Amino acid sequence: MDITVTEMNEQHLEAVQAIEQSSFIAPWSSQLFNQELQLAVALSLIAAIREDGREKVIGYFCAWIVEDDCAVLRIACHPQHRRRGIGRILLQQGLTRAGARGARRASLEVRPSNESALAFYRACGFTIAGVRKGYYPETGEDALVMQLTLAVPPHGSGKQSAGSVTIPS
Ligand SMILES: CC(C)(COP(=O)(O)OP(=O)(O)OC[C@H]1O[C@@H](n2cnc3c(N)ncnc32)[C@H](O)[C@@H]1OP(=O)(O)O)[C@@H](O)C(=O)NCCC(=O)NCCS
Repeated sequence: MDITVTEMNEQHLEAVQAIEQSSFIAPWSSQLFNQELQLAVALSLIAAIREDGREKVIGYFCAWIVEDDCAVLRIACHPQHRRRGIGRILLQQGLTRAGARGARRASLEVRPSNESALAFYRACGFTIAGVRKGYYPETGEDALVMQLTLAVPPHGSGKQSAGSVTIPS
């Protein structure tokens, strides 16, 4: 399976929104994703495969890069494409690009009840750095804060365009 990771654009938003709706208790609106596309601090990526000759979005990653911190805001994969390494590819590509833009650490909040996300972030090297009490307004649930120190990118690694990865089927 060939996965292509590229910058998100407006044409991806319908597919991104469909995955968002099936992935989160409090999904972002299309307008919010649209706003992300306009923000200089934002890094928004999609992962796609080719199906019947057309590009199909199967995952996405959204982050803000502020000074040396990459705040991971959203990552999700289409429910039919989970546990195939796509989340890991998206996260790695996102963090590599964030590193090239000056980030030296990544941070995120996750619900303690989201066991798959917790296992995923742990598998990707994140560790728990703290707790934000009552962080999620819908449920009053606490958030676990997770962090990862990023490797310093090699000299000369600048802006990246598309990245293509093949996953053995
Ligand atoms: C979290 C999410 C993005 C992971 O994406 P994914 O493509 O399924 O993850 P990967 O296949 O790359 O998994 C990488 C590793 O993470 C761990 N992992 C991922 N999902 C897991 C699960 N459900 N249970 C246990 N471990 C899991 C495993 O160690 C896995 O490696 P392995 O499959 O070789 O054992 C996906 O589950 C998702 O879209 N969830 C809904 C949205 C969400 O909760 N996002 C995070 C919000 S904080």
